[in-house]
Amino acid sequence: SAMLATGAAQADYPDRPINMVVPFAAGGPTDNVARSLAEAMRPALGQTVVVENKGGAGGTIGTTQVARAQPDGYSVLLMHAGFSTAPSLYKNPGYDPYKSFEPIGLVVDVPMTIIARSDFPPNNIKELAEYVKQNKDKVSLANAGIGAASHLCGTMLVEALGVQLLTIPYKGTAPAMNDLLGKQVDLMCDQTTNTTQQIESGKVKAYAVTSLQRVPTLSKLPTMDESGYKGFEVGIWHGMWVPKGTPKPVVDKLVKSLQAGLADPKFQERMKQLGATVLTSEANPQSLEAKVKQQVPQWAELFKKAGVEQQ
Ligand code: MLT
Repeated sequence: SAMLATGAAQADYPDRPINMVVPFAAGGPTDNVARSLAEAMRPALGQTVVVENKGGAGGTIGTTQVARAQPDGYSVLLMHAGFSTAPSLYKNPGYDPYKSFEPIGLVVDVPMTIIARSDFPPNNIKELAEYVKQNKDKVSLANAGIGAASHLCGTMLVEALGVQLLTIPYKGTAPAMNDLLGKQVDLMCDQTTNTTQQIESGKVKAYAVTSLQRVPTLSKLPTMDESGYKGFEVGIWHGMWVPKGTPKPVVDKLVKSLQAGLADPKFQERMKQLGATVLTSEANPQSLEAKVKQQVPQWAELFKKAGVEQQ
């Protein structure tokens, strides 16, 4: 019968490669986490996880693709905090953060860094504040589209500096970083999972980190909080989801495999190098569901205060 066939398919899950959608460009912060995680989850799943980059519109295009995919466990979404901001930034984000998905669990938490092209004149955050005031309308700020982490942090930075910047959107911060390295854009706020190497090698200038504590791998960088922007904090949590209606046994298998992946020493080492914190104890559906419930209204409030309009 059809029911037996479905049951058998669930028991065999997964019997073919799984597609993990990253809603941003390849080679960027989300992609870096996803590719390490795909490798780390492989033994527990007994199948390969293939990463698909589907960038655009701050991550909403790729996220919507998974919301509309077959709920069979072969389409998985790896997204970050932007998942909970799109509902207040877009009139029609294409998905409902509460209804379109089954949560699998939280993955990592990533601090951000405020960086500039290597020959940008200001040498610290104080000089940056002065410089942007004196060069109004001339300073450009790259981001990965409305609702992306770089846009959220950029919005907070613009608020903190009290000056509008010319924003330039990309399909992810990997291509934005290329333009920063090519000196075609001035500034960016981006996750350490994309910026650590470039900062360490001196290819970009770095001003501050956005966590309340300094980041051990970038310990010379001051926090925004200690630089005079009290309470300036943004951390980018990442989560994993599957489409609503995915059978419970399939969800359970993914939860177990996610937990196994996060426990992998190689994954942990890689995340540490990139400044990310592995959220081991929150790698479960309840924690991710609670996170989204708390984050959607919190970001809505911030955008309202900042006067950010819906697209
Ligand atoms: C990316 O992978 O490109 C990022 O996570 C973009 C962002 O959200 O800023």
